[in-house]
Amino acid sequence: MSKSYETIKVERDQNVLWIILNRPQRLNAFNDVLLEELADMLETAEGDPSVKSVVITGDGDRAFSAGADVTMFPKLTPVKAEEGARIGQKTFGRIESMSKPVIAAINGYALGGGLELALACDFRVAAEHAELGLPEISLGLISGWAGTQRLVRIVGLAKAKEMIMFGNRIKADEALRIGLVHKVVHYDKLRQEAGEMAKKLSEGPPIALKYAKYALNYGSQFPLEIGLRLEAGLFGLAFSSEDVKEGLEALMSRRKAEFKGK
Ligand code: COA
Repeated sequence: MSKSYETIKVERDQNVLWIILNRPQRLNAFNDVLLEELADMLETAEGDPSVKSVVITGDGDRAFSAGADVTMFPKLTPVKAEEGARIGQKTFGRIESMSKPVIAAINGYALGGGLELALACDFRVAAEHAELGLPEISLGLISGWAGTQRLVRIVGLAKAKEMIMFGNRIKADEALRIGLVHKVVHYDKLRQEAGEMAKKLSEGPPIALKYAKYALNYGSQFPLEIGLRLEAGLFGLAFSSEDVKEGLEALMSRRKAEFKGK
């Protein structure tokens, strides 16, 4: 974790890893470097057993991320654009497939790829002044980093169509109302709120959290009967962990469980 990055900052708070997007002059818009550095950091976080949960946020109070860096667009050929879409999809896909919980702390604009990044996270906490949207339609484009796929799964077809086909930005309170974010707090409290959520998750049973995330993320992509089989298999597998014994013993002796991830 001692690598130095150009476009992200990395902080540790005990078992919680913070990834802070840091291209303020471009409102944390994603160029190739930011995408690569984020992918690299996510891989490192996945492989580090001392990291139990991750928070992604942007530096300052202006932007979580204003999306793909549009200055790259004029150079793109159709083939390069397709490849770029797949790279972004795979990078954000690492968050979804990550075995640890990931929280987006949305500190300002989350637009285009910025919102797509947040959509890949397990939880979204937003600052009151944050604005969220997929404005690609106004550029004659559509989302290419899973916006059309993940937004609909989170807010449903009607709201996803409205946000994508009109391309309007919505405010944090509306995002909360439609279930796009889990919580809205004043900007001054954002770090604290996201940090507390991450700490709570980092004290949970890592194996069960991983299986719950898999069952939720992947189970819903199959017909119900297959999803149920997946759930039953993971439920059974969770019984092989020492954490189950610890959870049961803690319940019986009315103490707080101390999970080891074994
Ligand atoms: N790509 C590259 N640069 C971007 C960017 C993006 N997606 N979004 C913002 N920037 C740059 C601006 O060009 C500006 O640079 P400059 O200071 O060199 O002119 C700087 O970030 C600040 O943005 P600015 O537009 O001046 O701030 P604002 O507060 O007036 O507006 C936004 C903020 C987010 C509403 C506006 O920048 C915007 O609409 N950005 C594009 C969002 C978008 O369409 N994303 C999807 C891309 S597919």
